[in-house]
Amino acid sequence: MIKKGIILAGGLGTRMSPITKAVNKQLLPLYDKPLIYYPLSILMLAGIRNILIIVNKGQLNQFRKILPETNNLGIKVSYKEQQRPKGLPDAFILGEKFIGNDNIALILGDNFFYGQSLTENLKRNTYLKKGATIFLHQVKNSSLYGVAVLNKKNKILRIVEKPKKNISNLAITGLYFFDNNAIKYSKNLKPSKRNELEITDLLKIYNKKKLLKASFIGRGGTWLDAGNIQDYYNASNYVSAIENRQGLKIACIEEIALKKGWIKKSQIIESIKNYGNCDYSSYLKSLI
Ligand code: DAU
Repeated sequence: MIKKGIILAGGLGTRMSPITKAVNKQLLPLYDKPLIYYPLSILMLAGIRNILIIVNKGQLNQFRKILPETNNLGIKVSYKEQQRPKGLPDAFILGEKFIGNDNIALILGDNFFYGQSLTENLKRNTYLKKGATIFLHQVKNSSLYGVAVLNKKNKILRIVEKPKKNISNLAITGLYFFDNNAIKYSKNLKPSKRNELEITDLLKIYNKKKLLKASFIGRGGTWLDAGNIQDYYNASNYVSAIENRQGLKIACIEEIALKKGWIKKSQIIESIKNYGNCDYSSYLKSLI
């Protein structure tokens, strides 16, 4: 059972410069809350309460203001600084001590997931004992992502990072479940042409050993990578449309914690005090 998760929230956010010059991308608002609330809510929905957030060197205090280690969420948050963006598998090298002997979930700080059976799908996959699981989602333009080529039986034949040709429409989303070997394998990876350790190279190791499983976020689910301006605003509009229609919030982390029974009403009241007079606080009030 996976009980620990890493949120990779570093990176230079170059694709979103100049707005990411002073503030880390993951702290920018995605509609009504910081971007990082969304991947955090995904880990929480999967039942993961022990969370390491990897941030850029020098940006720790920015993050602590939004997600302090001592929080009202019933979860354990810790931080680790990354000296420079060395690639996604660096998360397992930096997180070695945090991971210990356990299996681990990794989610990218700029990834947005939403949909009807998502929580069930996540929970099912946390039972991973050996190997790794990726979550695939169909996209029109797959050249922006890591992609997987499957056969009719859903066996993974190939994995390619940002392919030039359209070899598959199945993007590998930024959510991964790994067994403990991810640490060892990541340490042996060589940097790619862009001088980064590639998550797809790590996945290839698992696939070669026949230990890589594909799970699907079907067409009833949504996956958006808010890593460039256009997708960032699309994701923001998406949240706005749904929240204003339903009157329910997406990724309200206190609501998730309350429903999971991790926190009490008194902690929601603390959070309201902390957020002050705002729409988010009014929503929290409505929950209690
Ligand atoms: O979004 C899904 C895609 O994410 C996958 O399909 C690709 O296989 C995977 O390589 C990755 O591609 P990106 O080019 O989108 O990764 P990016 O460099 O934008 O980094 C993703 C997030 O991770 C971003 O929020 C910054 C953070 N990051 C990235 C690196 C390389 C770090 O915190 N540290 C890093 O060293």
